[in-house]
Amino acid sequence: MASIVISGGKPLSGDVWISGAKNAVLPILAACLLADEPVTLGNVPHLHDVTTTMELLGQMGAELVVDEHMRIRVDPRPTSRFFAPYELVKTMRAAIVVLGPLVAKYGEAEVSLPGGCAIGSRPVDQHIKGLRTLGAEISVENGYIKARAKRLKGARVTMDMATVTGTENIMMAAVLAKGTTVIENAAEEPEVCDLADCLNRMGAQISGIGTTRLVVDGVERLHGTEYDVLPDRIETGTFLVAGAITGGRVRAKHTRPEVLKSVLSKLEDAGAHVSTDTDTIELDMRGKRPRAVDVSTAPYPAFPTDMQAQFTALNCVAEGTGVITENVFENRFMHVQELHRLGADIKLEGNTAIVRGVPKMSGAQLMATDLRASASLVLAGLVADGETVVDRIYHIDRGYENIEEKLGGLGAQIRRLPT
Ligand code: UD1
Repeated sequence: MASIVISGGKPLSGDVWISGAKNAVLPILAACLLADEPVTLGNVPHLHDVTTTMELLGQMGAELVVDEHMRIRVDPRPTSRFFAPYELVKTMRAAIVVLGPLVAKYGEAEVSLPGGCAIGSRPVDQHIKGLRTLGAEISVENGYIKARAKRLKGARVTMDMATVTGTENIMMAAVLAKGTTVIENAAEEPEVCDLADCLNRMGAQISGIGTTRLVVDGVERLHGTEYDVLPDRIETGTFLVAGAITGGRVRAKHTRPEVLKSVLSKLEDAGAHVSTDTDTIELDMRGKRPRAVDVSTAPYPAFPTDMQAQFTALNCVAEGTGVITENVFENRFMHVQELHRLGADIKLEGNTAIVRGVPKMSGAQLMATDLRASASLVLAGLVADGETVVDRIYHIDRGYENIEEKLGGLGAQIRRLPT
């Protein structure tokens, strides 16, 4: 299995170009299944999860063509198999987002239950409950969600908790339902908004975008469109932490500062000088060691759980003690044991990590466990003395495009070792 080798200790400096958002492009690819005509997507990141989703849509019969700029044209018209197998869903839970489009457009779907994953049990009860409220008949048999419907009917769906892919599934199902659907307690994440914007470009009628109450007036059909996916706020945040943890200066280009407010404010608390332009964020530590910050994760617009591991790494070398509280997933501290191997001082108490900053960490061999945990290990390696090797790097390729090239462009000494 491939690994990444980092020689740490050098402040990063320079510009980094931010890719399209993984968590936006995956549901948008699924949304293409709803259209009667081809949809062309731009700003698509070159990621393992994107390839997996393309493979899934291809298995269903959709025709996908990628050009040299990574623009993907999806022609959903030949879709004839409404099946998402376990082999695929177990590697990428986000595949659950084909459920809503399939049942709404084709009247049937068989999608594997995702099962557990490294960061917790992650049930999909809200997806099922919402689709049932819209009139789908759903059974769970042999590890598969089997859904059927004639035409879904608009209804009021109240989510028990803000769920990102749950909201996306219900919203995608509702666009072709008869009548109006109101989704209460909807997730407000920018990726949900990006999906809604794309659906509206295809002819859907969704309002309340960016609020916890989405109103979807069902339409008869969706047409083709061209759409550019929004930039990745988590990739942006990860590179900014790379600047902060090394006492460096990093400018993230082609991003969206307005969707990173909670993260930028914590970086400022950590001592970073942050300035923003329409699509650029510059972070400058002016050579200083970061200060420890307290972080508590919650749904958007609060601090994202997908940035928790990176801030845990930042606190490891910060001045003072920072308390990290994880409120979204019950088991999202897999990176802590690995950070200990670099010399970090972290005490775990339930969903809280108390991180006492140490002046220096030293390189070691580490194992990546999930996507964002892997990113935090790479960040820690950038500042640890000597060589850090992060094994099982395939996790990081699911969500970061060319991470070693991008970090190398900022002056990091980093290389990939093939298997
Ligand atoms: C999405 C993101 C992921 C991010 C997470 C939280 C994608 C592809 N992935 O994951 O990167 O970490 O949002 O911001 O967009 N829950 C239930 N029942 C359900 C659905 C969710 O109990 O039916 C719970 C989950 O266990 C979790 C919380 O709700 O505790 C939020 O999860 P959710 O927003 O659904 O996460 P995902 O959509 O899977």
